[in-house]
Amino acid sequence: MTKLKTHFFGLELKNPFVVASSGLTRSISNIKAFAENGASAIVLKSLFEEEVYAEYEEIIKKEGNSHHYQEHLDYFDYEIKEKNLKEYLQLISDAKTAVEIPIVASINCISNGDWVQFASRIEEAGADAIELNLFLLPSDNNRTAEDNYRFYINTVRSVIDKVNIPVSVKISSYFSDLGCVIKDLDKIGVAGISMFNRFYTPDININNESLQAASVLSEQNEYHLPLRWVGLMAGRLQCQLAATTGIHNAETAIKLLLAGADAVQMASVFYQQGIDCLPAIIAETEKWMNEKGYESLSDFKGKLSFTKAPNPGWYERVQFMTYFGEYNA
Ligand SMILES: Cc1cc2nc3c(=O)[nH]c(=O)nc-3n(C[C@H](O)[C@H](O)[C@H](O)COP(=O)(O)O)c2cc1C
Repeated sequence: MTKLKTHFFGLELKNPFVVASSGLTRSISNIKAFAENGASAIVLKSLFEEEVYAEYEEIIKKEGNSHHYQEHLDYFDYEIKEKNLKEYLQLISDAKTAVEIPIVASINCISNGDWVQFASRIEEAGADAIELNLFLLPSDNNRTAEDNYRFYINTVRSVIDKVNIPVSVKISSYFSDLGCVIKDLDKIGVAGISMFNRFYTPDININNESLQAASVLSEQNEYHLPLRWVGLMAGRLQCQLAATTGIHNAETAIKLLLAGADAVQMASVFYQQGIDCLPAIIAETEKWMNEKGYESLSDFKGKLSFTKAPNPGWYERVQFMTYFGEYNA
C-alpha cells in the first residue's frame, strides 16, 4: 500500500482516505473499525462551541430564579466547558490507545475565545493534529466581509501560536474572496486546508408548510465544487489540500487526486454503505493506478490541476452563454 502514501494535516499518511469528522468518529469501536478497514487518519467529531453554550444556557434557565444565579454564572461556565472538554480529551487518548493511525481533533469555533486555550489541552491529550472547523454564516448585515475575514485569520493564527502540532482548517465556500482567504490561511502557516465543509441545510415541506432539515448526507454528485477549487488552488500553496463533500467512490476520489488533492475526507458514504465499503474503494484506486502504470500518488496527483492541465480554462469557465449556446438535453 506504499504506492498510495501521501501527506495531509502535516503528517505522513499511508493513503489519502481520511475519515471526516462526524458522529461516526466519536466512538472507539467505529474508530477501530475504520483503522481495520484501511483509513489513513481519523478526524474526531468536532468539539462544538455552540453545543457547550447551549448546555450552559439550559442550566442558566433552570437556575435563573435562584439567589445563586449571579454568583454561579462563572462557576457553571467553567464547569460545563471543563466537563465537555474532559470527555473530548478522554476520546482523544482512548482513540490514540486503540489505533495506530493519526488521530486528528476537530474544534468548531464560532468565536475567538476559550477555544484557543483548549487547543493546548488537546495537544497534551495526544492528538496528532488539529482541524479547525470554522464557519460563520455571512447573514449578519452588520458584519462586513472584513470582520469575518479577521475572525478566521485571527482564530487560526492564535491556535497555531498556541500548539506545536500541525493545525489544518476546514472551510466553507461562503467567501466572496475565497482565493485570497485560502492564500492568507496558507501564509499564516496552516498545515492543510479541507474544502469544503457541508452544513446542516434548511428545506421546506410543502404539504405541512413547515421548515425542515434537508438531507444530512451528501449525494454522489456534490463533488464538483471541491473539484473546481482544489483544481484551482493545487500547486499554488505551501500547505496541503484535502477535498471533502460528495466523495463516495474510487472514481470520484481519483478525480479529486487528479485535480490536486493530497487527501480526501469522507463521511456520508460510511453512513450509507457502512465502514466496510472502504477496502473496495482503496482497492479500486490501486487497480486504476496499476492499469495506468502509476507507481505512486505523486505520478498523477495534480496532473489535471489548473497549473498542469492542458486545458485549465475549464476551471474558470462559469457562464454557459457561448460554449453551451447550442446545448440540447
Ligand atoms: C452526520 C454528520 C455529522 C458531521 N459532523 C461534523 C462535525 O462535527 N465536524 C465537522 O467538521 N464536520 C462534520 N460533518 C461534515 C463531514 O465531516 C464532511 O465534511 C461532510 O459531510 C462532507 O463529506 P461527505 O460528503 O463525505 O459527507 C458531519 C457530517 C455528517 C454527515
